[in-house]
Amino acid sequence: MKATNIVWHPSKVTKEDRQKLNGHKSVVLWFTGLSGAGKSTLSVEVEKELHQRGIRTYILDGDNIRHGLNKDLGFSAEDRKENIRRIGEVAKLMVDAGIVTLTAFISPYREDREMVRQLLGEKEFIEIYVKCSLEECERRDPKGLYKKARAGEIKGFTGIDDPYEEPENPELVVETDKQTLEESVKQVITYLEENGYLK
Ligand SMILES: Nc1ncnc2c1ncn2[C@@H]1O[C@H](COP(=O)(O)OP(=O)(O)OP(=O)(O)O)[C@@H](O)[C@H]1O
Ligand SMILES: [Mg+2]
Repeated sequence: MKATNIVWHPSKVTKEDRQKLNGHKSVVLWFTGLSGAGKSTLSVEVEKELHQRGIRTYILDGDNIRHGLNKDLGFSAEDRKENIRRIGEVAKLMVDAGIVTLTAFISPYREDREMVRQLLGEKEFIEIYVKCSLEECERRDPKGLYKKARAGEIKGFTGIDDPYEEPENPELVVETDKQTLEESVKQVITYLEENGYLK
């Protein structure tokens, strides 16, 4: 830590107060998976469904965050780690603010995702593995990135010449190459309902 002589200033409204006002818990839904697996697509649909049910939500999406907060970071292992660390800290603030926070980052390294889990309280981090075969992601190639990676125009692309470490104990696995988008959305919502997050 570079900063010294800093003292936490407590507020008089707590996370629990905010959750009570909102009428639901706050939590991070951490979508992880290969590029093109469907993290953004799924988070947008899940958010829409939650919003319709009166739940306060916010999405932190990889590309959007790299436009602003993290525009100084690249894709080296070190920068990916710092990217995820900052997102983790932002997500933690949003949970403190009482919001159901959905994040859509490849977040390829187990250690980095684990770091975020440790930042948050128990039951405040739901790891959702958006599972899809590399072949199918490459076939979809919604941003044309796999094509560029195969052509050598992008170096260190996850799944091609950079690793993706599968979650070992995720709270949820959605298989977007086997189930429809609607089925995946239902699976996530059902998990939240059954585990008491929505009341
Ligand atoms: N069952 C499904 N679930 C989710 N997405 C699907 C499904 N079937 C097809 N798709 C398509 O797969 C693509 C997924 O792209 P999306 O941008 O959501 O991926 P991503 O995981 O956010 O990738 P990136 O890490 O590059 O941002 C979309 O074009 C979506 O329409
Ligand atoms: Mg995305």
